[in-house]
Amino acid sequence: MKDWQTSGWRAKPRVQMPEYTDEAALNAVEASLAKYPPLVFAGEARKLKSALGACARGDAFLLQGGDCAESFSEFSADNIRDTFKVLLQMAMVLTYGAKVPVVKVGRMAGQFAKPRSAPTETLGGVELPSYRGDIINGFDFTPEARVPDPARMLQAYTQAAATLNLLRAFSTGGFADLHRVHSWTLGFTDGDEAERYRDMANHIQDTLDFMTAAGITAETNNEIATVDFYTSHEALLLEYEEALCRVDSTSGKHVAGSGHMVWIGDRTRQPDGAHVEFCRGVLNPIGLKCGPSLTAEDLKVLISKLNPANEPGRLTLIARFGAGKAGEHLPRLIRAVREEGALVNWVCDPMHGNTIKSSTGYKTRPFELVLREVREFFGVHNAEGSIPGGVHFEMTGKDVTECTGGVRAVTEEGLQDRYHTACDPRLNASQALELAFLVAEELRARRSDRQAAAV
Ligand code: PEP
Ligand code: CO
Repeated sequence: MKDWQTSGWRAKPRVQMPEYTDEAALNAVEASLAKYPPLVFAGEARKLKSALGACARGDAFLLQGGDCAESFSEFSADNIRDTFKVLLQMAMVLTYGAKVPVVKVGRMAGQFAKPRSAPTETLGGVELPSYRGDIINGFDFTPEARVPDPARMLQAYTQAAATLNLLRAFSTGGFADLHRVHSWTLGFTDGDEAERYRDMANHIQDTLDFMTAAGITAETNNEIATVDFYTSHEALLLEYEEALCRVDSTSGKHVAGSGHMVWIGDRTRQPDGAHVEFCRGVLNPIGLKCGPSLTAEDLKVLISKLNPANEPGRLTLIARFGAGKAGEHLPRLIRAVREEGALVNWVCDPMHGNTIKSSTGYKTRPFELVLREVREFFGVHNAEGSIPGGVHFEMTGKDVTECTGGVRAVTEEGLQDRYHTACDPRLNASQALELAFLVAEELRARRSDRQAAAV
């Protein structure tokens, strides 16, 4: 891009970024990262962009999910595998239930840096800088842990590389083969949604047997044995993003090498700020979180900066208003998009507008509010004649108790049982599956309405 440089963001106002005190150490880390291989390649980012363009048209549907924050201490093959399994299960529920191709994107292999609502945290009368994600500082409540340490970027890069390596192996090495649809079930899931999943898997198995008999096998049809799986994270720590930025040899454009898709958070989307400046210059698909404070005017400026060529799949708008608020905010933003004639992919994040403090002191999300915001999102798009193009969740394959509710009702008292998140509360596997069934129903209803309207 002509009027853009990888370091251009440095001249812009920045928020939510750490002040590193040891400049020499920071420079050394940036120099190392700049020499390391990128984690993803431009061709992959372009392929995802084209898939997201299909979502924006209503020909596919985005499923984006994973941890709120990946952490160094929870890093293990089992955790990666289990989150991947839940995403595959959810994708299967959507593909089978709504008969629509699902674009799978993990909040994985780079989702380390966190914006915070307050710069400091007070515990037992002691005030310390807030935890900002493992790529920046430590979770322990000590003054030493909370000092931003640039060396953490190298550990995050290594963890992201190893995570992506395993995800690539799972995606193409047989694990994601449709014939294994039953094996993605996690041992601890039971109840209605697990039963529904088993029923569906039986039907899929039956169909595959039929297809094999008819000569359509994994050997003749690669789609049966592999999946396209992409990574994404919030492009918050711009020193890291800049150091991993590369020039694509095919197009001469810049690509963020840290993940396939990056997004701009609700707190860092100032049109003249550092984060928008960085993201506008990379060719990757970009997400933009849209919260209640986003004005139609700002959205129009952001669209023109982030997608001046109106390229399909380039811009995904991730609505996160909170249950009861989508009806107030989404229509005005959908109209702003329409006034611009802009091509965008509308996605629902029903997590970040529904965080509350439980009576037992835990940060939680009531599952019924999450479901309600998803329904409202679909309702508004149906009323406005616009297209719901995907969903964005915080979930994990672990059997955690972080969000209340769901069929295996987690209570406020029960939150303490297995509350493991380093940041926001995540859906557990049962809740994630239940949500996938709801989204599939909404999508199916929408498709049959549209078919009926077309007759
Ligand atoms: C997040 O996705 O973890 C996040 C912080 O979201 P938002 O910027 O929408 O608050
Ligand atoms: Co979060």
